[in-house]
Amino acid sequence: MQRSLTITLTLLAVLLAASLSFAGPTAPGDLLLAPPAALKASKPSVAFSHAGHAKAEVDCRTCHHAWDGKEGVRSCAAAGCHDLPGKQGERTFYAAFHAKADRSCLGCHKTVKAKGVSAPVGCKECHAK
Ligand code: HEC
Ligand code: HEC
Ligand code: HEC
Repeated sequence: MQRSLTITLTLLAVLLAASLSFAGPTAPGDLLLAPPAALKASKPSVAFSHAGHAKAEVDCRTCHHAWDGKEGVRSCAAAGCHDLPGKQGERTFYAAFHAKADRSCLGCHKTVKAKGVSAPVGCKECHAK
């Protein structure tokens, strides 16, 4: 009984995912962001909500700036993207999330904060324990 319920729920989830993805990849819900295995984490992981940012009317390609809008979305740390250690330079993992540009988490939050919108800018607000 429980097994068939699980199967039914799985099928429903697959159908839902399929119906939502007809126009290309859809945004996953809430994510917990951490560095890839090759780069060691020095800070607690960061919670990120796609839905919260959709409400704030942030376009997909503001963040996924190398995405063509059709093919799969690559992760920030994909090879040739933000896959380097350290803090200096656009290709570092760090830059993807803290660079001055509005497409980085911290860059955009500083911009919107200057306009009076509350968004986290303190290290511990994002890297919460
Ligand atoms: C707006 C959210 C946000 C703020 C504010 C923020 N970070 Fe991050 N940071 C991230 C995200 C997202 C990542 C990528 C996921 C991860 O590695 O935890 C990251 C990754 C990092 C990394 C590389 C991964 C690691 O664990 O070593 C370092 C170092 C870092 N942040 C330091 C800081 C420091 C220092 C501050 C304060 C000056 C700060 N961050 C503020 C979102 C933020
Ligand atoms: C505010 C920034 C932001 C916006 C806006 C945003 N995303 Fe994302 N998205 C992310 C981050 C960060 C990740 C995690 C990437 C990683 O794991 O390196 C992610 C992951 C994804 C993934 C999974 C990629 C993987 O690694 O498998 C997909 C698919 C995706 N987003 C689609 C979307 C779509 C579609 C939209 C627009 C409706 C969207 N995103 C809007 C930041 C954003
Ligand atoms: C282009 C602008 C933009 C980018 C890029 C962006 N944010 Fe935000 N973020 C916002 C705005 C605007 C708000 C305030 C939304 C609200 O609460 O109405 C916000 C709110 C938040 C909040 C608090 C509300 C919530 O959803 O929990 C968190 C946490 C957050 N952002 C994390 C991130 C992380 C992590 C990234 C990078 C992966 C990121 N943001 C990238 C614009 C941005």
